[in-house]
Amino acid sequence: MIKWAYRRFKYLLLSPKYFYLFFYGKPEKVINALTGEPASRFFELKRDLEHDAVFLNALREKTKKYLNEDFNYNVDHYFLYSLIRILKPSLIVETGVFHGYYTACFLKGIYDNQKDSSIDGKLISIDLPAYESIEESTSETCKKRLPAGCQPGWVIPEYLRDRWQLYLGDSLKLLPEVLKKEKNISLFFHDSLHTYSHMTYEFETVYPELQKGACLMSHDIHWNRAFRHFVKKHNQKEYAIHGFGILRKK
Ligand SMILES: C[S@@+](CC[C@H](N)C(=O)[O-])C[C@H]1O[C@@H](n2cnc3c(N)ncnc32)[C@H](O)[C@@H]1O
Repeated sequence: MIKWAYRRFKYLLLSPKYFYLFFYGKPEKVINALTGEPASRFFELKRDLEHDAVFLNALREKTKKYLNEDFNYNVDHYFLYSLIRILKPSLIVETGVFHGYYTACFLKGIYDNQKDSSIDGKLISIDLPAYESIEESTSETCKKRLPAGCQPGWVIPEYLRDRWQLYLGDSLKLLPEVLKKEKNISLFFHDSLHTYSHMTYEFETVYPELQKGACLMSHDIHWNRAFRHFVKKHNQKEYAIHGFGILRKK
């Protein structure tokens, strides 16, 4: 446990800036800096999410059934949902689904963009299913594997699945295959295997395919220095909050 905590937080402790943003970063500030939308828009969208009983109850019911836990939103869910509502991406590609809480937030954002503004969007996810725990990826110490009998994304409500395509396997192999078929990615999101080499591979593979203005985002940027090095190498400006790092390609 101590070894795990040291490995996970070493790089956070070594960077005062990331340490500060992990604990005190404000999602509304990141959204404003990245998109120009006022901070108040973030709070409006947060309220919208909180008031949608259908979505929340679906997540709560499945979480209770398969993990025997209570589900409540946290800042990650508000941040991801509002980002999608504001950016209105036509195509998101993500790696790392696991239970599917973030995936559900992306899909809910896409669904509401369609409902409110008739904007079409889709999400393509790649996941190597954690039927057994996968070191450096399934980070929650006691829930390292999918619940018995469940597939990645089991928590995603049925009504959101129309706009979702899931590829099962290693992103080292599947990401290049997806990129051959799919053009004009608006947002790439990494949340699969958080080793330096794997993160760097995904970032470098997707980066040439991103148009100017498209976003590249990673979770768990404090597990190693891959995101920081990538940003520096490509002379990009990154925004960070609560373990997420995001850049908008210049
Ligand atoms: C940190 S979890 C993702 C959490 C998820 N975003 C959520 O909201 O619950 C990492 C996921 O990446 C998967 N994974 C691990 N290695 C992978 C690889 N090489 N390629 C694709 N997915 C991988 C794991 O099985 C796990 O489902």
